Amino acid sequence: MPNTTTVTMEKLVALSKQRGFVYPGSDIYGGLANSWDYGPLGTELKRNIMNAWWHRFVTSRGDMVGIDAAIIMNPKVWEASGHVEGFTDPLVECKKCHERFRADQIDISKPCTRCGNKDGFTDPKNFNLLFKTFLGSTEDSSSVAYLRGELAQAMFVDLPQVLMSSRKRVPFGIAQQGKCFRNEITPGNFIFRTREFNLMEFEYFIHPSEWETWFEYWLEQMKSWLDFCGVKREHLVFHEIEDGERAHYSKRTVDIEYLYPFGQKELYGLAYRTDFDLMRHMEKSGVDMRYTDPKTQEKYIPHVIEPTFGIDRTVLMTLLEAYCEEEAPTSEEGETSTRVVLKLPKALAPFKIAILPLSKKEELSALAGPLADRLRQRWATDYDETQSIGKRYRRQDEIGTPYCVTVDFDSLNDQSVTVRDRDTMQQVRVAIDDLEKWFEEKLD
Ligand code: GAP
Repeated sequence: MPNTTTVTMEKLVALSKQRGFVYPGSDIYGGLANSWDYGPLGTELKRNIMNAWWHRFVTSRGDMVGIDAAIIMNPKVWEASGHVEGFTDPLVECKKCHERFRADQIDISKPCTRCGNKDGFTDPKNFNLLFKTFLGSTEDSSSVAYLRGELAQAMFVDLPQVLMSSRKRVPFGIAQQGKCFRNEITPGNFIFRTREFNLMEFEYFIHPSEWETWFEYWLEQMKSWLDFCGVKREHLVFHEIEDGERAHYSKRTVDIEYLYPFGQKELYGLAYRTDFDLMRHMEKSGVDMRYTDPKTQEKYIPHVIEPTFGIDRTVLMTLLEAYCEEEAPTSEEGETSTRVVLKLPKALAPFKIAILPLSKKEELSALAGPLADRLRQRWATDYDETQSIGKRYRRQDEIGTPYCVTVDFDSLNDQSVTVRDRDTMQQVRVAIDDLEKWFEEKLD
């Protein structure tokens, strides 16, 4: 089938909204700029991504443990980490319309992109991205706290407790998934850049002499994860960040960039954070962050390799990669029409199976309903008996369901159903009693 796809953000945003992947937040009140809610299907897709990541990088390995830390930490954490002082973006303001921009994202020698003013912009000033809040009933400097700007700090400050309670030995990692907050100057491009976003990352603690080996190892593991997500390698760019451009804590960074419809931009990052953070926390807290090698008795501050994965950007990239428009037959006489299909990796698809009784007749529902309930115990299963079967197939294609099971009037006699494959659209007849075995081979 010829693929006629040109995936645009307009198409993807429209499909996401219509099918319930992602839609504007607070919509009944006119929304809130750059705030998005995951709908029923988006929530499943996001969870499947997070669970697959957790399994791959945490539970299936012996050298990794997970934590789930508080979002609001002692403000001293962010002072020690350098975020209060240095977690900034350069901000400029149009002298006429006062729109604010990131100085590193626009050409300040050109007119304002919003109002066309040619009189220029204010001088760049550093704008801190940490989200400030106040704890308790007084709003003064003594009650200032921050919503976490990255997950990493909890993995650093919890290291002594994790080492003590888990008995892990270097090299090993601590992983976390969760929300982060940044007061971005210019959020935008759907869920690409928002002020509240989801992150999954780990800090991998190593002996300093081994950092280059581990850096290469984790880069390969990140590539393998991207293969699993169904990303074509030609849509990725591995960008070595030069001296002077890296975050304040990093000695080497590779940004993994993706070719979004709005340009080549960051997807994930891999950083060698050295002992910067542990050293700073040791100085500020007075707690000894050194590790003693049980074999050699060497005492040292572990160094850290940090692979970091934006969850929302993974959802966006996965949808972009999966989105296909192709000419598909609509009749035996060779007529065709364009079908939209999300060719999601099966492991990530929100529904794995859809049960579609050919009509709403009670005898079909009586067979199809319990069948859906049965399969649902093993795989996420949708049930739909509205509209024509052709329209229902198209709907399932659009949400990426790998298999549709049609229960028809023959099923009542031969106790078999028709299973249709999302990608090839080929149909096979399978005995109802054999369905679990059949799907085990295809889905597990
Ligand atoms: N602990 C390292 C760290 O936080 P980062 O490059 O600042 O590194 C990590 O952010 C990842 O978080 C990025 O690679 C990106 O995927 C995602 N990310 C960063 N800012 C974001 C935002 N405003 N909205 C959505 N995702 C964002």
